[in-house]
Amino acid sequence: MTKKSTIEINGKKFDFPILEGTTGPDVIDISKLYASTGNFTIDPGFTSTASCQSSITYIDGDKGECYYRGYPMDELAEKSSYLEIAYLLWNGSLPTKAEWTEYADAIKNHTMVHEQMKNFFNGFRRGSHPMAILTSVVAALSAFYPDSIDVNDLEQRQISARRMIAKVPTLAAMAYKYSIGQPFIYPDNSLDYSENFMQMTFGVPAEKYKVNKVFSKALDKIFILHADHEQNASTSTVRLAASSGVNPFASISTGFTSLWGPLHGGANEAALNMLKEIGDVKKIPEYIKKAKDKSDPFKLMGFGHRVYKNYDPRAKVMQKTCHEVLEDLGRKDDKIMQVALELEKIALQDEYFIEKKLYPNIDFYSGITLNAMGFPSTMFTPLFAVARTAGWIAHWKEMYLDPQNKIGRPRQLYIGEKPRKFIELKNRN
Ligand code: CMC
Repeated sequence: MTKKSTIEINGKKFDFPILEGTTGPDVIDISKLYASTGNFTIDPGFTSTASCQSSITYIDGDKGECYYRGYPMDELAEKSSYLEIAYLLWNGSLPTKAEWTEYADAIKNHTMVHEQMKNFFNGFRRGSHPMAILTSVVAALSAFYPDSIDVNDLEQRQISARRMIAKVPTLAAMAYKYSIGQPFIYPDNSLDYSENFMQMTFGVPAEKYKVNKVFSKALDKIFILHADHEQNASTSTVRLAASSGVNPFASISTGFTSLWGPLHGGANEAALNMLKEIGDVKKIPEYIKKAKDKSDPFKLMGFGHRVYKNYDPRAKVMQKTCHEVLEDLGRKDDKIMQVALELEKIALQDEYFIEKKLYPNIDFYSGITLNAMGFPSTMFTPLFAVARTAGWIAHWKEMYLDPQNKIGRPRQLYIGEKPRKFIELKNRN
């Protein structure tokens, strides 16, 4: 029997169907609410609203679990590779060996960017934040690859998606190189995805770059952990922008812009800065007190999540990866790491954090790890963006294939002036 929900408005009852997903909470379908009742609903921040149906990622926030296309994300982080995850998110299933060879070769074929793009970079002020450069150059891809911007053409959709997976790391590394005044390093297709990113970021023409395998493996895991996270702010932004039919590069560039905010992709930079500022385990109680004080805007960065009301599974893998990197560097007793571990321990025993179900999120340990690997904090969000590109394009494709898809157009509760008479300037006081 189909489940239904009944809403009573001014004594009149209206029935709405309840939809069941594969797993997770049921959803009341209110798409006919306005037509049948003349009312809208309001839900700032979408805390109770599903914006679409999706079969890409599932998060069980209470259990602290996350699945990509049905596979546990922590298992994928240990056993798969970022590029395979990009394939999985886009196609819905893991590649056969032949499919993998074709895909990996195609991505390698697209790693270089149009040579003219260098001139585009030259227009930026030296010292610009790499994210400021990236948000623009990703949108500019549509100027360089106009042959794959027809969103209604399946083949062009696939080409532009592959171009983005292949070229975004190149652009992110170029943005970094430009910001520090070093020459751009071309991709090296003999390396795997993460190794190549490291050589484009840290290599210099004067010497041969030697990849540290512990670091490149750690980076690949970080990319997997950040690859998708269902309808978060940046993904929803991409979907909304794309719903107008705008080209893929322009759509995805909106994800970069949204991700840059400190409450989203910018949190790892903020978390590392906070840990450095605390600096000593003795100062932790002072910061815990600040985080609990309602009159103080300070929040424990890297703590809390809209969906996870349990330990973020990404944070668990991240903590382990962080230990591996620090051990490789011979820094098992790293001071910042000690502060992080102790802060986590104290917070998890504190009534405030227990009651509000605030646990470490992925950003709590990713900043320390990336910093130890040599990435400056300005590169943390670009790295997140490189990884999330796989998720954004998968959602972008899913949206186009969804027969229910229509242009996104939220409504509002208007609280402004009622219609009033305009008085010409000459007649006003
Ligand atoms: N430190 C102290 N108190 C907190 C924190 C925190 N980090 N996070 C939430 N709270 C409190 C908040 O003040 C509120 O208290 P009250 O009920 O008394 O008003 C309660 O917990 C619920 O928080 P909220 O802000 O209503 O929750 P939200 O779902 O709107 O926000 C969040 C989620 C991630 C933006 C928030 O927890 C936060 O700002 N955390 C710090 C920033 C951070 O680490 N962001 C990374 C998110 S994970 C990466 C990603 O997926 O993008």
